[in-house]
Amino acid sequence: MTTREIIDLEQKYILQTYGRPEFVLEKGDGVHIADTDGKHYLDFVSGLSVNALGYNNSMIQEAANAQLGKLIHVSNLYHTIPAPQLAQLLCEHSFADRVFFCNSGTESIEAALKFARKWGYKNFEDAPKNKIIAMNNSFHGRTYGGISATGQPRYHQGFGPMLPGIEFADLNDLESVEKIADGQTVAVLLEPLQAEGGIHSADPAFLEGVRALCDEMKMLLIFDEIQCGLGRAGSLFCYEQYGVAPDIMTLAKPLAGGLPIGATLVTQDVADAVEPGDHAATFGAHPVSCAVAIEVFKTISDSEFIAGIQEKSAYLFGKLNALKDKHADKVTEIRGSGLIAGAVLKEIPAADAMNAIRENNDILVCVAGPDVVRFLPPLVVEKEHIDQAVNALDEFLNAN
Ligand SMILES: Cc1ncc(COP(=O)(O)O)c(C=O)c1O
Repeated sequence: MTTREIIDLEQKYILQTYGRPEFVLEKGDGVHIADTDGKHYLDFVSGLSVNALGYNNSMIQEAANAQLGKLIHVSNLYHTIPAPQLAQLLCEHSFADRVFFCNSGTESIEAALKFARKWGYKNFEDAPKNKIIAMNNSFHGRTYGGISATGQPRYHQGFGPMLPGIEFADLNDLESVEKIADGQTVAVLLEPLQAEGGIHSADPAFLEGVRALCDEMKMLLIFDEIQCGLGRAGSLFCYEQYGVAPDIMTLAKPLAGGLPIGATLVTQDVADAVEPGDHAATFGAHPVSCAVAIEVFKTISDSEFIAGIQEKSAYLFGKLNALKDKHADKVTEIRGSGLIAGAVLKEIPAADAMNAIRENNDILVCVAGPDVVRFLPPLVVEKEHIDQAVNALDEFLNAN
């Protein structure tokens, strides 16, 4: 089939929920992807923070093939081998005592919301707590729980009513949380680094304050580390940089190196409120995804791998900040940490930069809101690739 025929087929048969550029990606290797016309792109999107170890990774293929050759799926009616092994790794490297596995980020948020409310009913039987405080400008996925907890009205439009019992405060404004927290509040949900909302990091004092408030008012603290966790922000989990641990944490995107997976990590206190039958997912704890995730997690949790991310991060942010100084009239801020970076443009739509960099430089970057060009390379990116991506933005800014 020609590229045109594939796109025509897509436009005829696929529900049009996405706007895509007119090329078809076919194969990838390392940090590069090739389209059906043989054009190669340097990838600074990583499948939206998923392909942490790049494309055509032999370790991922071997782990997937080995598991496919043994057992593909049996449902959660039965024990399988990879899921508990992965759960052990996740717990041994984090605050958590237990893990619930599902298939995507938004599903892990659904589970977090349900477990928090169950904890609220179980522990406060006389006056059950069920109110959740989420943050304005957040993003937690596209299911009803996910959009209801997402503090961006555009995701709600046309889909109301939202799930009741969710109210919004502002990231880095402790008073705004204190103002709406009351005896009915069961949990505060936030991204330690808001990604889709424009790359905004939480302030240490804010996270410390929210943690103290949660302890004082007997509320759970839920961190959504679906995009910022697992090395992306420069530490295995983003919360480690703050020394503030949550009671529940959601993970997904890179955990299985490109295969679908979601995980909701909880303390034993939260686990004690959840009983068999309370929640389930047919494909959850999928043997192939979990077998691959074990290998991906071993790689990402290695201290040398994390040190490599930090070194490349310093290089990326050094270059981006120099670019900001050079184009002070067009770039107002460089935000982010680790290998998630946003260049905030002034009066130039970020989508224009994204399109120009793809068309002129064969580099894929994405946006985070209307004015932020987002850099999300695979964590195995090299400095020479960082040079190419930043130079491409420089070229765009020179011309615009
Ligand atoms: C912080 C955060 N939470 C939740 C989600 C939803 O994840 P998924 O698309 O896998 O459902 C995303 C996706 O971008 C995200 O960045």
